[in-house]
Amino acid sequence: MKLRTWITIVVLQFAVYTHSLPTCINAVQAAINTLAFIESQPLSDYDARCRGRLRLISFYASTTVYCEPDELKEGLEGVATECSAQNTTLVPISEFEANLTEDAISHLRIVERFELDGGDNLTVPVLLSEEFFNLAYKTIVTWEYEIALRREYAFTSYAFWGIIIVIGTLCNYLMKCWERRSYNGDTHVDADDQASMSSHLAMVFRRIYHITKMYFSLPAGWKTYHLRLYYGCTVPTRMETIIVIIFWAMSITLSVIKYPVFYGNVYWLLPDRQLARYFADRTGELSYAHLPVLWLFSGRNNVLQWATGWSFGTFNIYHRHVARVATLQAVAHSIAYHHLIMKNNGMALYREWIQMPWFYLGIFATILMSILPMLSSIYLRIYHYEFFLLVHITFSLIIILTLFVHTSIFHGVYDIYLWPVVVVWVIDRSLRLVRLVYCNIRISLKDPNHPILMTKSTVTYSSVSNVLRITVTPGVFSLRPKPGTHYYIYAASNWFGWDLWESHPFTLASLDYTGTSNSGASRPLRPRAMDEELYTQPCYNSIDSDTPMVSNEKESPALVFYIRPFDGFTKRLRDMCLRTPNRQATVRLLLEGPYGHSAPLENFETLVLIAGGTGIAGTLPYIREYVNHQWGRRRWRTENIHFIWTTQQAAFINEVASKELRPAFGRDDLHMLFYATSTATSRAPPGLSDTADYSDNLDTLLTSETPGELGIQYHRPDVPALIRAAVAKHRSSGKGSGRVGILVCGPAGMADSARATVVQILREGFERVEYFEEAYGW
Ligand SMILES: Cc1cc2nc3c(=O)[nH]c(=O)nc-3n(C[C@H](O)[C@H](O)[C@H](O)COP(=O)(O)OP(=O)(O)OC[C@H]3O[C@@H](n4cnc5c(N)ncnc54)[C@H](O)[C@@H]3O)c2cc1C
Ligand SMILES: NC(=O)c1ccc[n+]([C@@H]2O[C@H](COP(=O)([O-])OP(=O)(O)OC[C@H]3O[C@@H](n4cnc5c(N)ncnc54)[C@H](OP(=O)(O)O)[C@@H]3O)[C@@H](O)[C@H]2O)c1
Repeated sequence: MKLRTWITIVVLQFAVYTHSLPTCINAVQAAINTLAFIESQPLSDYDARCRGRLRLISFYASTTVYCEPDELKEGLEGVATECSAQNTTLVPISEFEANLTEDAISHLRIVERFELDGGDNLTVPVLLSEEFFNLAYKTIVTWEYEIALRREYAFTSYAFWGIIIVIGTLCNYLMKCWERRSYNGDTHVDADDQASMSSHLAMVFRRIYHITKMYFSLPAGWKTYHLRLYYGCTVPTRMETIIVIIFWAMSITLSVIKYPVFYGNVYWLLPDRQLARYFADRTGELSYAHLPVLWLFSGRNNVLQWATGWSFGTFNIYHRHVARVATLQAVAHSIAYHHLIMKNNGMALYREWIQMPWFYLGIFATILMSILPMLSSIYLRIYHYEFFLLVHITFSLIIILTLFVHTSIFHGVYDIYLWPVVVVWVIDRSLRLVRLVYCNIRISLKDPNHPILMTKSTVTYSSVSNVLRITVTPGVFSLRPKPGTHYYIYAASNWFGWDLWESHPFTLASLDYTGTSNSGASRPLRPRAMDEELYTQPCYNSIDSDTPMVSNEKESPALVFYIRPFDGFTKRLRDMCLRTPNRQATVRLLLEGPYGHSAPLENFETLVLIAGGTGIAGTLPYIREYVNHQWGRRRWRTENIHFIWTTQQAAFINEVASKELRPAFGRDDLHMLFYATSTATSRAPPGLSDTADYSDNLDTLLTSETPGELGIQYHRPDVPALIRAAVAKHRSSGKGSGRVGILVCGPAGMADSARATVVQILREGFERVEYFEEAYGW
């Protein structure tokens, strides 16, 4: 096939998207376009089609023979529109009346499909043979079928995620209703149980829930690996694995099925070319279709997280698999197209197209998409997170922009997949901004000298614990933090001479009401002298074990975070503190949040709270809430809490025990076990001096203020054994149908062993145990 003809065909096919001509007219036009006529004067491609006499007589004669009058009328209007869109005019059928009489048509030369494939130039008008017309008709029907099919498949993929999300949302809703229904602070659980048992539906629901939890939602997809990496790979839960496998199977199937190719197609004679083109188009469109899902799942403000109750980690797993499938489909699209071009026209067409932005930007986008998963490797995510993030965002934005150009030749047909990406991204970024402004800035008319109130922060570093404690007093008073939520903390960092803000997630560990009497962030949170005491005093003056901490509903407390310094942002905060004599710095930090969910721990008779290192942040708020309603939840069904905390430095335990944990001591219903796996000195970061800082006060902390002996054990706890012991104790206490809630916030290994133990307990027949995880793995 000649280059010019091939280009014409491709352009014509683009037109199919914009002007849908009746199939019959399309078929005749496609068949006639395969023929070469020698007109009386040379005409350009579109001119020939709109004004070429031989071609038009052949076109009109064939449409008159094979198409219905109403098809003809509608079709010719469409062709006329196409011609004017190309700045030329269609010579109307009336001009050729004499050539289109029955007699004139019966004298026309009849051409067969394969008769002129050698490229013979016609000097007379012709009539398509019936077989030729039928092949052309089949070509158009197949082409239109493929267009409809790939859009249908794109929406099948949406339907898949839609069903998953709807099921997740329904389960979440039912669970919440169930929790709400079961929860009545004044009613004992047994009575409550009987009430629900009377309902057959509730029993069925409970059974389904139990089986799903035991076999699918809780167990790891491979052995006991979930938060731990398995040879550098993240292992989803069994349920997530099933969803991911179905998604892959569905995507592969939808990419390869239903290609009705046949010999004699008027666009591409040979089946392998047809297959290449249909496959290229299908994979291209499916790849585009995945983009909105990809972006939706990766957003910080993902409304689906709220609806389903699934964690960011779960959506992150789906995000990565959708990304991989979209990338593979983009690569398949590019390869198939290249194959088609080379097979049809070799380098000639390629050289022509490679100069066109829509073509080379398509290749560019595919290359970027292929590089992106490599630049998101586990190594980069762990060791060069900022680089990974920067590259991820930059590449993603460039890919979307280039894709707009890539499919611009289709007059916006494929933009329906790209604009939602823009909308999702803009909404996510805008919500971040709204949250940022809401958390950090308040305009006050009360104090004309300080009309704008901003968030204030103090960072203190303890080198014996190797922990940073950040106290953030938000600009607003109305913030209502919840246990188990996390915030993004923003700080400006200098990148190559530029002050850029970076943000990192941290779990809210506690609330500090010491500054609220000052009523506002515009004034210092507390007097300077008190600031200095903050981390060196044995305990906060304001923390009273018996007093509810919600002192004034109108005032927002300071938010406390415990942070383990790593190598980036957290290291810079640590270094900032180390440059000050008292290891304490006032830093301009901003808050964005809250994110995440609170676990409904108040509904469990027995709680097992397991914390590892700074994972204390995920458990502490619940303890404070249980002990003195620091967070405003007052009705607890809980009768026993087993709290297990292991960290490297015993000093960290002593610090927290003497501050936030202090009100929890001396109670019969709170059993605390502390483990330290390193001595403070042996695990302190190299090069740091332990003198002249908080360690000076360690003795005081331990002896005078910590309530009694902490009984720190200097080894790792046996997490499975402790969970089993707590569950056994619960069962032997005769609580009957009471439930046990297990919350873990800590390192991956700890969380995985706890998860595996809960699965075992469920399998052994004790159904009334729930597992909650406040941990994050890559
Ligand atoms: C929901 C959540 C809650 C967390 N809560 C706490 C907490 O209360 N206390 C605490 O000490 N740590 C917490 N972390 C971990 C904390 O976010 C990282 O340790 C911190 O971002 C490291 O910053 P860096 O620049 O010093 O790290 P780097 O030295 O650059 O990296 C250290 C590690 O942190 C990871 N990391 C870096 N930046 C981010 C980021 N923006 N998002 C996710 N992971 C990142 C890296 O992958 C790497 O594994 C939490 C993480 C998550 C996801
Ligand atoms: N919401 C969240 O997602 C959140 C919030 C805060 C922290 N975290 C995570 O929690 C972890 C804490 O980090 P960190 O540096 O603060 O911790 P850390 O000081 O190292 O403390 C972790 C403690 O857990 C012990 N441990 C590890 N695996 C264990 C296992 N399988 N069984 C029993 N004990 C085990 C460690 O013992 P060894 O010293 O012997 O290893 C250590 O004592 C990090 O992974 C962090 O990302 C998550």
